[in-house]
Amino acid sequence: MSDLVKRYTSSVDFDKRLWQADITGSLAHAEMLAAQGILSSSDRASIESGMLTIRSEIEAGTFEWKLDLEDVHLNIEARLTQLVGDAGKRLHTGRSRNDQVATDVRLWLRDEIDLIITLLAELQQALLDVAEKNVEVILPGFTHLQVAQPISFGHHMLAYVEMFSRDAERMGEVRRRTNRLPLGAAALAGTSYPLDRERVATTLGMVDEKGRPQVCQNSLDAVSDRDFAIEFSAAAALAMVHVSRLSEELVLWMSQNFGFIKISDRFTTGSSIMPQKKNPDVPELARGKTGRVVGHLMGLLTLMKGQPLAYNKDNQEDKEPLFDTVDTLKDTLRIFSEMVGGQLNAATGQKEGGISVNALAMEQAAARGYATATDLADYLVKKGLPFRDAHETVAHAVKAAITHQVDLSELPLSVLQQFNPKIEKDVYDVLSLRGSLNARDILGGTAPNQVRAQIARQRARLG
Ligand code: ARG
Repeated sequence: MSDLVKRYTSSVDFDKRLWQADITGSLAHAEMLAAQGILSSSDRASIESGMLTIRSEIEAGTFEWKLDLEDVHLNIEARLTQLVGDAGKRLHTGRSRNDQVATDVRLWLRDEIDLIITLLAELQQALLDVAEKNVEVILPGFTHLQVAQPISFGHHMLAYVEMFSRDAERMGEVRRRTNRLPLGAAALAGTSYPLDRERVATTLGMVDEKGRPQVCQNSLDAVSDRDFAIEFSAAAALAMVHVSRLSEELVLWMSQNFGFIKISDRFTTGSSIMPQKKNPDVPELARGKTGRVVGHLMGLLTLMKGQPLAYNKDNQEDKEPLFDTVDTLKDTLRIFSEMVGGQLNAATGQKEGGISVNALAMEQAAARGYATATDLADYLVKKGLPFRDAHETVAHAVKAAITHQVDLSELPLSVLQQFNPKIEKDVYDVLSLRGSLNARDILGGTAPNQVRAQIARQRARLG
């Protein structure tokens, strides 16, 4: 092989990050080989002590990774043989790198998924903290980015809690299908050695909720399936899309035209030329990074689409997109938890530096946009008007208010009565932003007591 081809075909530069999974998988394999009488117990002991040495070498940074040895698996096996001789060469009995790499990636990803589920929970808690503080803060709810109806800022935050809770649920489902054992499939057809695959699965924690071992049931599928990586990427892309939507709102809300929120200076940068600037770099970057995670999903799908059974070297290309997806998602979730909810001050025990809300600006924006027009229509319906007629009546009232440059609630009763004589003094209760909010007292609605109930439900769920 020329140096160029060596570099082209080797994966050790990036797959060395699988080293822990590789050692764990090998130890479980060796334990089973010994239990089945395929490997002597002294060979097994040598393998274990050799792996211990390798582990400490890698942790200390003294392990010598060799491009010539292609990948993480061959690097570790070669060093093992160097350390313990023939026992190292016996480790690969009944195994191929094809089932080995599939096992390693699954083990590694399973643990990353667990971490991601924790990080998603932390972000939900941060959003709940902001929601709790702002149940009574009113801002305009938008459709088409046009002022629609007044809503609670707490309610708005809870919408994201719902999204991230579904993301965590999805990750849990992906984890279930990731946590299955390919080892024993060998190169593609299974092996003639009497392996105990279920024993290995149990050792590696590849079990279902009842503790039953989870083993890939077809050897061809076991070595060539990367569905788990693809569906993980899909779940990750969706989580990033949710972060990206939140980012877009943060960017809008902190622009001068909205002025709804501030985020801590730790997440913004100035401009090199305009001294007054405070740019929302972190939300913008998260929005941008969503593109690369979505791209990785497309990459993995495309990687798989033309592959005949069983293993093909194409699959070596699954790693960089998968690793980058995990890194990007974890970093993004960590940063967002802190940017939204703040950072714990050890001295005071309080969280500091989260989103700060300009309640007045939000309320004024809601008041400017005729956000209670629907409430006036509902009021007329309760007085007996068909909804379509009420809708038209209110359209005329809004037109009049626009002409006089006032809010609906600022039109005198006499003027309102010109649109419909059934309008009485109590109309001003529903025309107020708070009255409008309180009226939406239905499961999932924005009335403050509903919002509080949802916060309590979510807190209880997160535990
Ligand atoms: N580095 C390879 C991968 O990532 C390991 C499996 C190689 N198997 C083989 N038969 N060449 O997929």
